Amino acid sequence: MMRTIRVVLCGLTLISFAIAQPSPSLSWSNDPQIESRVEQLLQQMTLDEKVGQLVQYSAGAPTGPGTGRTDYKELAAKGTLGSLINLTGAAETNAMQKLAVEKSRLHIPLIFGLDIIHGYRTTFPVPLALSATWDPGLVERASRVAAQEGSRAGVRWTFSPMVDIARDARWGRIVEGAGEDPYLGSALAAAYVRGYQGAKLSDPESIAACSKHFVGYGAAEGGRDYNTAEIPVRLLRQVYLPPFQATVDAGSATFMSAFESLNEVPASANSFTLTQVLRKEWGFKGFVVSDWNSIGELIPQGLANSGAVAAGKAILAGVDMDMEANLYSQYLSGLAKTGAVPESVIDESVRRVLRVKFALGLFERPYTDVKPDGIAPEALELARQAAEESFVLLKNDGGVLPLKANGKTVALIGPLADDSGQMLGSWAAKGNPKDVVTLRSALTRQVETAQGHVIYARGTDILGASDAGFSDAVGAAKKSDIVVLALGEDAQWMTGEAGSRAHLDLPGNQQQLLEAVASTGKPIVLLVFSGRPLVLNWAAQHVPAILEAWFPGVQAGPALANVLLGASSPSGRLTVSFPRAVGQEPLYYNHFNTGRPADAADLTRPPKANKEKFLSRYVDEQNSPLYPFGFGLTYSTIGYSPTSASSSSVSAKELNEGTAKLTVTAEVKNSGGRSADEVVQLYIRQTGTSVVRPVRELKGFRRVTLAPGQSQKVEFTLGREELKFWNIDMKDVVEPAQLTVWVAPDSTQGMPVQVSVGQ
Ligand code: NOJ
Repeated sequence: MMRTIRVVLCGLTLISFAIAQPSPSLSWSNDPQIESRVEQLLQQMTLDEKVGQLVQYSAGAPTGPGTGRTDYKELAAKGTLGSLINLTGAAETNAMQKLAVEKSRLHIPLIFGLDIIHGYRTTFPVPLALSATWDPGLVERASRVAAQEGSRAGVRWTFSPMVDIARDARWGRIVEGAGEDPYLGSALAAAYVRGYQGAKLSDPESIAACSKHFVGYGAAEGGRDYNTAEIPVRLLRQVYLPPFQATVDAGSATFMSAFESLNEVPASANSFTLTQVLRKEWGFKGFVVSDWNSIGELIPQGLANSGAVAAGKAILAGVDMDMEANLYSQYLSGLAKTGAVPESVIDESVRRVLRVKFALGLFERPYTDVKPDGIAPEALELARQAAEESFVLLKNDGGVLPLKANGKTVALIGPLADDSGQMLGSWAAKGNPKDVVTLRSALTRQVETAQGHVIYARGTDILGASDAGFSDAVGAAKKSDIVVLALGEDAQWMTGEAGSRAHLDLPGNQQQLLEAVASTGKPIVLLVFSGRPLVLNWAAQHVPAILEAWFPGVQAGPALANVLLGASSPSGRLTVSFPRAVGQEPLYYNHFNTGRPADAADLTRPPKANKEKFLSRYVDEQNSPLYPFGFGLTYSTIGYSPTSASSSSVSAKELNEGTAKLTVTAEVKNSGGRSADEVVQLYIRQTGTSVVRPVRELKGFRRVTLAPGQSQKVEFTLGREELKFWNIDMKDVVEPAQLTVWVAPDSTQGMPVQVSVGQ
């Protein structure tokens, strides 16, 4: 929990300190009453009943290749089933629960799980878009709505948040996470958990979070889903593990082990990550579910030659529940009988599962009240706000935006202008296209209110090959004062699981449509709907305004119309670097420097001198991203003062002991004519250390609202937490260093201050 304290000084608002409070949702993990109920129940269980608690099957539309069984009704009645995935609805889950609770010997309730990733019925923007809000409070509120709606349908467990760091835009699942940065990723990861689990897990409207995919799944080689990840341990600890640890600290009740082979040991049989790090170092008390059939996949991966060996390796490494592989149910009892898996290991896994079931209050309230479902007006309002905060204005030459639509004709062109299904994005749980208001409908209404007129032409399909619709589109553009083009990816097929791409261009013939419409010479606003960064070089050179819209959810249309027409100013900031070419991937701002850096220069030509040749660069593309991490424009003009620090030197020893801290400040001023939200970002670099550190690292951020003419001093604190890193001895400490600090609008700007961190 964060508490923000605001101070006003001499007319300047000094926004300061977000104070971390202990998470109330952790109380489930050390409740003596729960522990004694778990022990009492465990004593009464047969081996088969114990194993039963560790198995999960899908009882609805499968979300992976089907390998499981379908006799879950009998299993529930026999008391040999722990959980079901993909079954929803109060009546449906109650009927199944009745079998477990009333027919089985020990009456242990089932736990129903579902992928509620960005809303249950009220579909919010996709998680990558939500991350672009840089607004943990909003993410927490959206997750709370998802929990309330999901729990009303009997679902008390979501397979979210996905906190995988993703540095490669080719990976389709980059859409499900918070982008490339571990600091922002940690803040948002904790916010999701707080929202899902609420103040108390036992609240009937709370659902258990599942932190996934543990770990390294986002580092898939070549960005190809399910592919191998090789991550040196320091990088793992520094970049990939922190968001997971943040979810443990926030009280996350469950984890999901990932599919991929991590450093030659598949993540679903990796005792280093699942037992050493998660349980021993972080003290995690909940349970780990495998990903869908990931225990079975230990066989093709080559770690096991049989289902029995796969099951044994997974449980011994620390995977408590088998999702859909149907191997625990077949082999664990036998493995326990031969001693290959000690029964005490099974007991421990059962304890973890029962602990979470007790914490959720499932034994007291196994059933869900049947109530009409639907979307509450406040949920809709939050979905619109979230979408508005998530849009990133990438370019706005000549102030094309906001549109001056009064009495004007606007051509609205493109396959994503009026497609309600696409607006839901991937993994939309029970999102319903009927709930979506499209851009076409909202923009038409708003422009007509302003005595203007909208002409719509689809132009082509998302994956279109025919140019049959081009002439209508060009005709519409010619008749208009301004053109809004809605282009982008297919949300379901090209983003999310198994949605990796080798090309990052606009798919189908949308680029040709863009060029045909641009040839009319009309001013163009390009809206990009995508679940990842796309390569937008041509548009960046030829189109005056570009807005990254992601997949905005049920309120896509109203949110976009508000931003396009200026009712609100865009305030999203990129959480992923946008490349100039696919060949730059993986591309991320917090990289290490080389001995021969060439970042600032455009050297896409033969070198003119030796000093230009032997540099770390491509000969045919710049090193820098087209749009960097943290970047985003507004309709106003925001200026930053130089960064200042409370002291020019500080002691590493005192930082480590927690007796010293550094305060860093900058003044941010809105000198434009509109109110705007600014995301103020804090970056550091440390040099002279025992291992090299990134060229920049995010260590703080704050979203502030600035009225026209308003200034604010924004202050950050740098202490042990922000300055420590895994050093040459694999100790997580602050080292003496030269420290550079920027308070900046993005990862490439800002006027730094130097601080010496001495002994
Ligand atoms: C596989 C996906 O990797 C995971 O994220 C999801 O939660 C499960 N399927 C269940 O649908």
